Amino acid sequence: MTRIPVALGARSYDVAIEAGLLSRAGDHLAPLARGRRMTIVTDENVRPHLATLQASLAATGIDSEAIVLPPGEGTKSWRQLEALTDRLLDLGVERGDHVVALGGGVIGDLVGFACAILKRGCHFIQVPTTLLAQVDSSVGGKTAINARAGKNLIGAFHQPSLVLIDPDTLDTLPARQVRAGYAEVVKYGLIDDPDFFAWCEANGAKLLAGDAAAREYAIAHSVAAKARIVAADERETTGIRALLNLGHTFGHALEAEAGFSDRLLHGEAVAAGMALAFAYSAEQGIAPTTDAERVARHLRAVGLPDSVRAAGIEASGAALVAHMLHDKKMDAGTLPFLLARGIGRTYLDRAVDLGSVGAFLDAGMARAA
Ligand SMILES: NC(=O)c1ccc[n+]([C@@H]2O[C@H](COP(=O)([O-])OP(=O)(O)OC[C@H]3O[C@@H](n4cnc5c(N)ncnc54)[C@H](O)[C@@H]3O)[C@@H](O)[C@H]2O)c1
Ligand SMILES: [Zn+2]
Repeated sequence: MTRIPVALGARSYDVAIEAGLLSRAGDHLAPLARGRRMTIVTDENVRPHLATLQASLAATGIDSEAIVLPPGEGTKSWRQLEALTDRLLDLGVERGDHVVALGGGVIGDLVGFACAILKRGCHFIQVPTTLLAQVDSSVGGKTAINARAGKNLIGAFHQPSLVLIDPDTLDTLPARQVRAGYAEVVKYGLIDDPDFFAWCEANGAKLLAGDAAAREYAIAHSVAAKARIVAADERETTGIRALLNLGHTFGHALEAEAGFSDRLLHGEAVAAGMALAFAYSAEQGIAPTTDAERVARHLRAVGLPDSVRAAGIEASGAALVAHMLHDKKMDAGTLPFLLARGIGRTYLDRAVDLGSVGAFLDAGMARAA
């Protein structure tokens, strides 16, 4: 088993990663179950894994209650938050209890936020079951629901007490979802780890085909990278944690253009966004063109989009820039932008001219036409 500590002083916790871990989860959760009872929150699609988790808890003498929510981004809503907190209160969950979030980023974000505010804060445990949640959203303590004005606008920082990752849960995840999560794996290489990007080039296809060793290595490596970044900048105040947003400003604009629908998954948008961030960096003379081409080539090779058009979006540069202006990272009228000096050399640029970004996007659309 790989154990990765997230060092946050009094809020420190471990991320445990091991194939088959879900069936042994009871051993890890028993010490945290007060009164030999535990509440698990999950969604309909995760039911097979819920059964495994409950059986493992029962084997260690813990009774569990399951709250099964509808799947999908729509579950990160005020309505579901209200229903969930009422259910948790009905079940008598106390501040010292640990609620288990079993599922993808939707369940993790919603349950984490519910636990941040329930009785002014109770504990929670992340058991992520999508690749995206295993390499990104389950670690770091960002929790949120969506508002009418946009995604993730209502939330809190609330760290989990423990993260249990069983890569085997990905066996039931649709291939398209695994591929989208893989974009966030590649991201860690592009941020500051060129050797890991090279590993992705050599092993990405194998990982996506379900190779257990490649999968576990990539998850552990990604979690270690995220843990390091979060430990250095828990609340995204120094600019270090902002590096995790590589590809997300372009990506967010593409998602907004697609109406945040299944037409374009978050990871797919991030893939195109990272390719665009590198292409823009190259166009501005900041990154070598060969690096931008290498990024696009790898994303294409694994079936991820590497451009606006490949993401299935037809939009003018002005329309995409207009979405960027609504980004929650807008700060006093400027938008901090993640650019790269090369593979593994991402940096935060606070002086990006959005007009030149719009022109770059228009030129890209014209080239692809
Ligand atoms: N908190 C953070 O730091 C952070 C970071 C990145 C993304 N997010 C959030 O994460 C969410 C996206 O997460 P996601 O991609 O995991 O989406 P998701 O939770 O919607 O899961 C994707 C789909 O897979 C299904 N599913 C989950 N596990 C499964 C399994 N093992 N087998 C079969 N089906 C399974 C779900 O029911 C859903 O239909 C977004 O809301 C995003 O804002 C949060
Ligand atoms: Zn992301």
